[in-house]
Amino acid sequence: MRYLVTGGAGFIGSNIVDELVQCGHDVAVLDDLSTGKEANLAGVRKKIDLHIGSVTDLAAAQSACRGADYVIHLAARTSVPRSVENPLDTNHVNIDGTLNVLVAARDAKVRRFVYAASSSAYGETPTLPKVETMQPEPISPYGVTKYVGELYAQVFGRVYGVENASLRYFNVFGPRQDPTSQYSGVLSRFMLAVIEGKPPVIFGDGKQSRDFTYVENIVDQTLRACEASGASGKVFNGGTGVRITLNEVLKLIEKITGKKISAKYDPPRSGDILHSQADISLARKVLGYEPRVGFEEGFRRTWEWYSAAFGKK
Ligand code: NAD
Ligand code: UD1
Repeated sequence: MRYLVTGGAGFIGSNIVDELVQCGHDVAVLDDLSTGKEANLAGVRKKIDLHIGSVTDLAAAQSACRGADYVIHLAARTSVPRSVENPLDTNHVNIDGTLNVLVAARDAKVRRFVYAASSSAYGETPTLPKVETMQPEPISPYGVTKYVGELYAQVFGRVYGVENASLRYFNVFGPRQDPTSQYSGVLSRFMLAVIEGKPPVIFGDGKQSRDFTYVENIVDQTLRACEASGASGKVFNGGTGVRITLNEVLKLIEKITGKKISAKYDPPRSGDILHSQADISLARKVLGYEPRVGFEEGFRRTWEWYSAAFGKK
């Protein structure tokens, strides 16, 4: 089978590409290398077709889609604060880009389009855990764009018969998550700060919580969503069902590293949700998904990876 992975040079994408190559599939990647890196694909570079280009360019999306059986669409602006600062840019990549990839997937007559959606679609609704039947109420431009991608995927199913599944990933972490930008995911930022001997910065009081999900679980869920019967047209949560606060995360870093850590507390970020936790019953039932790596085990593996990649040589 041939898979196109957009955003395949990024954190989650490159982990998916590794697994696809490992399974013996043909893989194409479309990535503009804006936050992804060719180095993330070093282990598989000779076995894949890398298209360096943007999903905002329809011709690039069409060229990359040629011959694909499955499209896994991850290319996006991924940061909530970045979308608050520049909503037009996030809208362009996440909505126009997704529409281009859908058009290309439709024209290439792919078997299924699998979309990296986001738990940010739920917004600040009080009920936890989040269930897919709840009304989405995104509270950031990013959350709006990710939700619109789901709607487009479903409409392409209804109108053009493109099979589709959307996965609302909940805070994914693990090896290759880039920690170096102000927009990077919180666990990667914390780990880099500790390695550099700087205080981790917490926006707010640290009582906000997330369903942090180790990337291996998400790779597994995403590949299941490509093939599972009964999945098309549906939206699934991709998490673990457990949530942990940022203050608890810092305690775990102290436990694992044996270092005493004092965080710096800054004002909360606008567009931030307070709590997030997935109900994964639907993914269990339809996809046979079961998170294999728990938070603490994933955290240890990730810490080892960051220590090797960013620690003193
Ligand atoms: P990432 O930044 O590592 O990956 C995004 C990739 O897309 C990068 O390789 C980047 O270069 C590429 N890209 C960006 N704009 C592009 C464009 N215009 N054309 C082509 N490629 C482009 O981030 P990630 O964490 O791996 O996120 C992957 C996907 O998963 C995104 O769609 C994100 O919204 C979604 N998601 C991530 C999380 C998370 O916690 N990391 C949670 C929910 C959803
Ligand atoms: C993350 C993902 C987003 C995804 C969403 C799904 C990234 C960059 N963002 O958004 O793509 O759709 O999960 O659940 O991967 N924080 C700090 N200190 C820091 C950085 C962040 O305290 O140095 C706080 C933030 O204010 C927030 C929490 O940590 O309260 C998580 O932030 P972040 O990692 O940016 O993720 P989300 O905004 O949840």
